[in-house]
Amino acid sequence: MKTILITGGAGFIGSHVVGLFVTNYPQYNIINLDKLTYAGNLENLTDIEKKENYTFVKGDITDASFINQLFSDYSFDGVIHLAAESHVDRSITNPLEFVMTNVIGTVNLLNAAKHAWSGNFEGKRFYHVSTDEVYGALGETGFFTEDTKYDPHSPYSASKASSDHFVRAYHDTYGLPIVITNCSNNYGSHHFPEKLIPLCIHNIQNNKPLPIYGDGKYTRDWLYVVDHARAIDTVFHRGKNGDIYNVGGFNEWQNIDLVKLLCSIMDKKLGREEGTCAKLITFVKDRPGHDLRYAIDANKINRELGWSPSVTFEQGLEKTVDWYLANEAWLKNVTSGAYNKYYEHQYGQGHTQ
Ligand code: NAD
Ligand code: DAU
Repeated sequence: MKTILITGGAGFIGSHVVGLFVTNYPQYNIINLDKLTYAGNLENLTDIEKKENYTFVKGDITDASFINQLFSDYSFDGVIHLAAESHVDRSITNPLEFVMTNVIGTVNLLNAAKHAWSGNFEGKRFYHVSTDEVYGALGETGFFTEDTKYDPHSPYSASKASSDHFVRAYHDTYGLPIVITNCSNNYGSHHFPEKLIPLCIHNIQNNKPLPIYGDGKYTRDWLYVVDHARAIDTVFHRGKNGDIYNVGGFNEWQNIDLVKLLCSIMDKKLGREEGTCAKLITFVKDRPGHDLRYAIDANKINRELGWSPSVTFEQGLEKTVDWYLANEAWLKNVTSGAYNKYYEHQYGQGHTQ
């Protein structure tokens, strides 16, 4: 029996990773550590919360003594670290929170793992889940490879880049067995409606404007969250010690085209006349420091580990819309209270209902 610590397992991607590991590996004890910030939600885990090999621990990765205690309470064989502040717009408003969680929190976990494993690294692994945003922005052509120089522009991506450097440094300096993945934009169920796709789904349901930053020509490379969880499973078990893997779907969309596709899917699902939802599209003030384009070269993980996405974007987006339409109570819960305050601050009075 192995004991695996997954951090941030009540969040969007973390809940998919916890679900996959608890279900597919009954021989693993999965400990999910999460602070339950605004982005963490135990309702994301109802499918597996009663399984015998699953334990939830509420706690904060910025609290070093709590983390050290956790590592002595459990004898972890592996760590899959996803806990983070993850939203670029919030990082522009409050950078320090991102430094605390993403940098200090990661270093606390690295210290605890180094101490607990005290030089005996046989069978151990520290897996750091990171983002393509550390590479900065691309022009109209080219891809991010594992060798692309780090060039972060937002406080979020700067904090993730810093955490990546610490993880690499603990490998190079202390021999800690690590792997890192840098993944492109995820979408799917349980995605908090501050991010583009779930925000637009929620606003379409409520006939609210769909805020498109700048001219809408910014480009992202979208991957279905279930495929990211599959990639994490693959790299955790078969990735090479000390290696970095880029994860992405070779699936680039300009924001405006993506939102138009979403509108057309939603017109059909909601029985609205074609073109109705698109009328909600509203161009708004741009995000400061907005990266023009992300595009991941995912050839290494495909070539070396055989991973590739399992669904097309159209299939994944339709599954996503279906999930949100079937789970209105989930959306209602996460958009009550503090969400309205955030929304008003980010988009202004004119955009609230
Ligand atoms: P999320 O914001 O949905 O979830 C983050 C989780 O971390 C939440 O459950 C939250 O409660 C928890 N958390 C936050 N601060 C904590 C703390 N101090 N202690 C313990 N738990 C804390 O984020 P996500 O979109 O699921 O992203 C997960 C990871 O994947 C992040 O590291 C992110 O950088 C990375 N990533 C995300 C994407 C994406 O498109 N969402 C793409 C690539 C990489
Ligand atoms: O690339 C991976 C990253 O993807 C992850 O590391 C981050 O955690 C995740 O939040 C995501 O970052 P983005 O900033 O790309 O995602 P977001 O959904 O916030 O925005 C996607 C694009 O849509 C981006 O170009 C900004 C734009 N946008 C976003 C919002 C919220 C809008 O035009 N309007 C909006 O209201």
